[in-house]
Amino acid sequence: MIYLDNAATSFPKPENVYRALDAFARQSLANPGRAGHRMALAAEHTLDDARHRLNQFFHGQAPEQFIFTLNCTDALNMAFKGILQSGDHVITTDLEHNSVSRPLRAMEKEGFITLTRVPAANGGTVDPDAIRRAIRPQTRLVAVTHASNVLGTVQPIGQIGQITRERKVLLVVDAAQTAGVVPIDVQELGIDMLAFPGHKSLLGPTGTGALYVRPGLALKAWREGGTGGDSASETQPNEWPYFLEGGTPNVLGVAGLLAGLKYVEEHRLDAIHRHEVDLVERLWRRLDELPGFEVFGHRDHSRRVGTISFRSDSLPAAELGGILDQAFNIAIRPGLHCAPYIHRAIGTFPEGAVRVSPGPFSTEADIDRLSEALTEITA
Ligand SMILES: Cc1ncc(COP(=O)(O)O)c(C=O)c1O
Repeated sequence: MIYLDNAATSFPKPENVYRALDAFARQSLANPGRAGHRMALAAEHTLDDARHRLNQFFHGQAPEQFIFTLNCTDALNMAFKGILQSGDHVITTDLEHNSVSRPLRAMEKEGFITLTRVPAANGGTVDPDAIRRAIRPQTRLVAVTHASNVLGTVQPIGQIGQITRERKVLLVVDAAQTAGVVPIDVQELGIDMLAFPGHKSLLGPTGTGALYVRPGLALKAWREGGTGGDSASETQPNEWPYFLEGGTPNVLGVAGLLAGLKYVEEHRLDAIHRHEVDLVERLWRRLDELPGFEVFGHRDHSRRVGTISFRSDSLPAAELGGILDQAFNIAIRPGLHCAPYIHRAIGTFPEGAVRVSPGPFSTEADIDRLSEALTEITA
């Protein structure tokens, strides 16, 4: 299978990730616990090690501010439901994935918050001034994706962070499409909470993700339960990260995520980014030559990740995806990509578009094979 669906989850994983998962599962897969036996302590050490490395990687203020989650969706829910209060106004954008849009829309429908959705300008980038103009006295939080999972366009988070800092509004960033391929310095960018998956460009297994919370932010407890210590406490202990991490964590997944992070650091994030963007540009050039294809999003490659979406005049996206899968053994993602608002904005709702997202192990030959298949199918 030629796998070009890395925006959903990366595949394959680097060899060191497979090795780390195998070794950890065979030797260290105890239930982590601060007050436990040696194997429990070793498992706890893996969680600590991963938190330290993530803290360095994203330039956080302290490792214990990284809370492990099931995925990016879980991290975003933890952020919104932990911080928002009745009567708050929230600003978001039409580029968002449903993991941002749905929890916020549900709170709006309940009458708990009010919500403004700022449209992305032509080409798929949000204008920071549009966010500035949307701020009201009740505005508590701005929630924005770092890169569109449909268009691949990277958003001006630094400029948005400057505005939210000046106006004393919280900034929550969904880094699902950038963590591991675009540098993120949470302090420099003014990010209060950063949600990211471990299973996409950080190259860990599914079932991993994290939320970074700037120290000093008071969130409501999430998943209250056992924390491997402080068992006498009647309620969730106040100590971070345990305050937000009830229950047995996915320590095996975190061992894989740690290995994925090491791979990204060794092979350099900028080189991986360049490789993926070059492959997208190669496909884009082929699509320009072929009649009947429309590609969405701006073409400035310094402000893109390696994701491209397009449609064909002659075949609906779902049909094109099915033929590529069944007849050509190529995995791409047709449809709405859990991001209905941006599909409405670009005119591809409800049938959606075809999304292609190469990863670090994709090759020029993979892209050429896809281009040939598209030529053949639409001829
Ligand atoms: C922009 C964006 N946000 C959030 C998510 C949700 O990530 P997860 O599947 O890890 O919950 C995705 C997944 O594709 C995404 O692309």
